[in-house]
Amino acid sequence: MTTFVMRKMRRKGLASMAVQTVSATQTVDLGPASGLSCRECGEQFPLGPIFACELCFGPLEVSYDLPLGDPEALRKRIEAGPDNIWRYAPLLPVPADVAQKPNLNPGWTKLVQADNLAGALGVEPGKLFVKDDSGNPTHSFKDRVVAQALEAARAFGFTTLSCSSTGNLAGAVGAAAARAGFRSCVFIPHDLEQGKVVMAAVYGGELVGIEGNYDDVNRFCSELIGDPAGEGWGFVNVNLRPYYGEGSKTLAYEICEQLGWRLPDQIVIPIASGSQLTKIDKGLQELIKLGLVEDKPYKIFGAQAEGCSPVSVAFKAGHDVVRPQKPDTIAKSLAIGNPADGPYVLDICRRTGGAVEDVTDEQIVDAIKLLARTEGIFTETAGGTTLGVAKKLIESGAIDPSLTTVVVNTGDGLKTLDAVAPTTGMTAVIRPNLDSFREAGLA
Ligand SMILES: Cc1ncc(COP(=O)(O)O)c(C=O)c1O
Ligand SMILES: [Zn+2]
Repeated sequence: MTTFVMRKMRRKGLASMAVQTVSATQTVDLGPASGLSCRECGEQFPLGPIFACELCFGPLEVSYDLPLGDPEALRKRIEAGPDNIWRYAPLLPVPADVAQKPNLNPGWTKLVQADNLAGALGVEPGKLFVKDDSGNPTHSFKDRVVAQALEAARAFGFTTLSCSSTGNLAGAVGAAAARAGFRSCVFIPHDLEQGKVVMAAVYGGELVGIEGNYDDVNRFCSELIGDPAGEGWGFVNVNLRPYYGEGSKTLAYEICEQLGWRLPDQIVIPIASGSQLTKIDKGLQELIKLGLVEDKPYKIFGAQAEGCSPVSVAFKAGHDVVRPQKPDTIAKSLAIGNPADGPYVLDICRRTGGAVEDVTDEQIVDAIKLLARTEGIFTETAGGTTLGVAKKLIESGAIDPSLTTVVVNTGDGLKTLDAVAPTTGMTAVIRPNLDSFREAGLA
């Protein structure tokens, strides 16, 4: 880290989190990552545990020396790689030997051709796919982002991993820390679903419930970072956020590779902070730049629950500014009332010709059950939101049923049983004999 950058950071009060870890002489090996750049003003910074531009406070993101050259050779190299996200290591902020380090190695989840669901929604056979990220080690897409943040934490010398979470991230951090030998201490709203709480606690790290909603939890974590109590802590979605976000690019890479190195025409993605949606777009853009897929238009659609729909409301009103909301929805994993990447989501959905839409809690439950009975995939409330929005947009004509559409399922229904429990259950309770079985009308 240069003295110049350190001086500027100190002036803005950001230095404490950088000096605590990376020394001036230490070199940081994060593979092809060449630095950080501000999304707003383009100012460049060296790699480090910083997340906001000291000139304009814009969010920082990782920039790369991408392996431009023969796309065929790169494609072959990727295809010969492991069946996890590290097959894309040349495009990620990780050292080249990342696959040898203790990590949960998430990714390479199934892309399911959902013909039964397509039939139910009036989509042409062979055109609808579900990217089923419930198949990750802790059953959500969060394992992808945590895997990146963990490598950054290692590179910067952190020994404690932390996060503010709506549930899934806390479990993913706890598990990754356990595997990699880090201490973990994660923060969640105190009233989350039991499945999320147990999944976050079982890995043995510290789990702290905060009396408040996610936005309160996030605010508290930002305070903790600036305090000596948080010294030496890597908050995956705060001071490691630029690296964390890059993990979601692997969803874009996998979808295209699994489609035969082809861009989908339409892709539907849930929104909480909006990070995942923006990074999927970044991943698609990189594949085009590298010549790994043919350049053609694609549309990105964002999904929210009506009870927490700040981005959808702004999209429909034609606003560039996202006005915060107080969340009230069963889709607790998406309950971020003040989404950090909201304005970028609006830009992407507008630029690509997509949309942001929302659905009611009842529509979320219906969509969870629809996916379960048509494809045998049990999704959590976030997936119900995404499919519910996809259904609504197909019905309105915004999503073209004759084009290739991917719906991203980001989590597992076992963590949100309460959402469907009141409307699902046994068909009958019978005595253990055939007469009783016949009486129940099941023969
Ligand atoms: C299951 C699930 N899907 C989607 C999201 C949205 O992620 P993002 O904050 O990147 O928009 C979350 C966030 O917690 C989640 O848990
Ligand atoms: Zn800036």
